[in-house]
Amino acid sequence: MRQRWKRTGAALFAAALLLAQGMPAFFRGQSPAVQADAGGPGLEDATPHPESVPGGTKLIALTFDDGPRRSTTTRLLDGLSQRGVRATFFLIGKNVEVNRDLVKRMEREGHQVGIHSYDHQRSLAGLNQADFAAQVERSRDLLSEILGHSNFALRPPYGQSDAGVQKWAGGPIILWSIDPEDWGDQNVDREVKRIIQNAKDGDIILMHDIFDATVEAALQVVDRLHAEGFYFVTVDELFDQKHLPLEEGEIYRRAEN
Ligand code: NI
Repeated sequence: MRQRWKRTGAALFAAALLLAQGMPAFFRGQSPAVQADAGGPGLEDATPHPESVPGGTKLIALTFDDGPRRSTTTRLLDGLSQRGVRATFFLIGKNVEVNRDLVKRMEREGHQVGIHSYDHQRSLAGLNQADFAAQVERSRDLLSEILGHSNFALRPPYGQSDAGVQKWAGGPIILWSIDPEDWGDQNVDREVKRIIQNAKDGDIILMHDIFDATVEAALQVVDRLHAEGFYFVTVDELFDQKHLPLEEGEIYRRAEN
């Protein structure tokens, strides 16, 4: 059954996030526990939340595929936490199995978790329902067991989908509008330049948190785009702030209205 995609309180956290990024000095140097408390679900009811982001604010979403990978994902989460920045992670179920603590940490620190596939062996396009379920539903069940909910957007490997993928996605299908091809030569300067030159309000950036160079590039991008007035939000927050509904089985590349 198709139904309106349900978000998990993203709007409640967006305002706190924007405040955090606007006051980096306040957040830098604090312990991860303090940072998590400052923006996390624990203070949800006690923290005032403006209705929306101030007019003219440029919003952009960093997304990371193919993780988690303990070494690189940990360093990335540390760097994002220091900067008060939230991102979206499209995970591989097989990698989730051995990194459950990292997945919990992602949500605890305000990041959005989504599904990439179970083993990334091939495209989801062309699979029958049973084989699709072995990739996506298996991952969803695993993430549900760890995180206690089942609202996960899907990013199909290689961005490939077909009628079956759209029918069985179980959430919105999130592609991207900026691809620095970080899996290629893994050249930090080239990746940063590609992203900075193309960044616009509403963009979704594709990266992979399994490479050392990507971690370095992503954090440089955050610092550079902060200086240009961008705020980093999760995919759910990006569409929520722009009052664009995300529908199950629909394909999205960027948030524009
Ligand atoms: Ni991938």
